[in-house]
Amino acid sequence: MPLTEELRLIQVADLHLGAGREHHLDNWRKVLAWVERERPDMAVINGDLIMSDPDTESDHEFARTQVDRLGIPTRFLPGNHDVGDNVLFGKMAQRVTPERLARFRRHYGEDHWSFAAAGWGFVGVNAQLFGSGGLAAEAEQWAWLERSLAQLDGKPIVLFTHKPLFLDFPGEGDHEDPTMRQSVVDAASRARLLALAHAHDVRIVSSGHKHQTRTFSLDGIYHFWGPATACVNGPPTTLHYGTREVGFIDYRFRSDGTFEHRVTGADFLFRHENYIRKLCDPDTH
Ligand SMILES: [Fe+2]
Ligand SMILES: [Fe+2]
Repeated sequence: MPLTEELRLIQVADLHLGAGREHHLDNWRKVLAWVERERPDMAVINGDLIMSDPDTESDHEFARTQVDRLGIPTRFLPGNHDVGDNVLFGKMAQRVTPERLARFRRHYGEDHWSFAAAGWGFVGVNAQLFGSGGLAAEAEQWAWLERSLAQLDGKPIVLFTHKPLFLDFPGEGDHEDPTMRQSVVDAASRARLLALAHAHDVRIVSSGHKHQTRTFSLDGIYHFWGPATACVNGPPTTLHYGTREVGFIDYRFRSDGTFEHRVTGADFLFRHENYIRKLCDPDTH
């Protein structure tokens, strides 16, 4: 009888590293030490690699160098701080442009990808392209996503996206408040994504961006909000939907279709309160 194959994959998100900046690097060094010890098979870097401004070239160089120190295969997805925020529903001053996308690809490779391993399919989408207001790259990604999911038919699928799909329920509209609105994928793109997810066998949606841990299952899909490795976000009085902690997700996917996950790091990373630093230095994260 063949042994069950297993893929141990970690999702790290929201590293927020900056060239010449010490903060958040202490946590990153702890992640590097953990990976050195545990030797997972690969890592998905789920967006917000750099400190804050997507146009800071030196931060991208620095973040790429740091991620390479993991010494394991990696796949990258962009966050709002890497390529700019979503054109139609974002909040940051910098929005997605072809130039920012090109910069990301130059530093990290493809901004969306798919592969199969241990009997599972893995698909990473560039969440920053949703609601782009007509960028060619968005249409190209939708066509690619439909093809990629079809190619993985017959396998359980994990979908990685920097932004979660929704806050409360799939049918919710786009929020009026810009902070809430930019937290998740816009309603129209979400409906299209969920229809595709249900047409194929998507079992997990794994996201970053909120710097909070949260898990729920709905209609056969587990939604995992992964924490940040860098810091928690906003003052304690801010409305939070998940647990205000730092860490990363340690997944094990098995060829019999089962999986395990463990959110780790909250007990050994520094739970940096980024709002305290931001009060003193608005250009930081
Ligand atoms: Fe972030
Ligand atoms: Fe983000």
